[in-house]
Amino acid sequence: MNQHDLHSPSTLERVIHVAQEAGRLLRRMSRTHANVWEKAPGDLVSDADLAVNTFLLTELRRQFPGTVVWSEEGVRPPEIKEPTWIVDPLDGTTNFAHRFPTFAVSIALWLEGTTVLGVVHDPMREHTFAALKGRGATLNGARLRVSNTQELPRALMACDWARGKAREGLLNLLNRVGREAHAVRAMGAAALGIAYVAAGWVDGYFNASLFPWDFAAAALIVEEAGGVVTSWGGKPLGLRKSSLICGNPHIHRTLLAFTAPGRARPGREEG
Ligand code: IPD
Ligand code: CA
Ligand code: CA
Repeated sequence: MNQHDLHSPSTLERVIHVAQEAGRLLRRMSRTHANVWEKAPGDLVSDADLAVNTFLLTELRRQFPGTVVWSEEGVRPPEIKEPTWIVDPLDGTTNFAHRFPTFAVSIALWLEGTTVLGVVHDPMREHTFAALKGRGATLNGARLRVSNTQELPRALMACDWARGKAREGLLNLLNRVGREAHAVRAMGAAALGIAYVAAGWVDGYFNASLFPWDFAAAALIVEEAGGVVTSWGGKPLGLRKSSLICGNPHIHRTLLAFTAPGRARPGREEG
């Protein structure tokens, strides 16, 4: 399979099926008590993360020979060769561990120096968010468009809790946004919080510290729905751990002003 074939509606269809199959596995495992442990302080992993990880690795390599898979639960490839799948088998492990029914599978394809395909699947609600670069974003096949809310007092916002030092930065920004916004939600699964911006269900989303497997697929979905996604202060996102703000163009502009250099800062190393 050549690279051109991968940036195509037929690949997107196949990846949607893979994500939905992975979602069925997650939903089944959510009915039993999966083993959960800490891989680092406050950073949980479960049997379900590993089972879905194995499924995705096997399936993506089998269906798309010659591609590389970079998963949260795998080893980072020594260099990001193209094409690379960027995968989070279970986004929302803390929710999953508490049996809080909000979590997702996230799969992105990195090609030509950018994300060209993204799928975020919520197996509990059977919501499949998908996008192909240049071809728009969909939810269960229906076209997505970001909201047109222009002012923060009318905006429903979302964020997610950061771990470690990044939490301080998150709380600073939350303090600012929370005073002015209509309300702020925290989903506990960043890929879903970001994808909800694409659906127009929330007007903006912010997080102090995310990895590419958390944001790659959902960020493309937001951009293809007419939204804007950057780091705090406005840098494009790449393949590094990063802070993130996104929204419809009006609300993104507001978040950008709040996070301009000298204003709210994410924790330490995040850009
Ligand atoms: C986490 C979730 C959470 C976000 C964390 C992520 P995980 O992913 O997306 O909402 O705030 O920063 O690490 O560990 O459940 O895959
Ligand atoms: Ca994640
Ligand atoms: Ca995960």
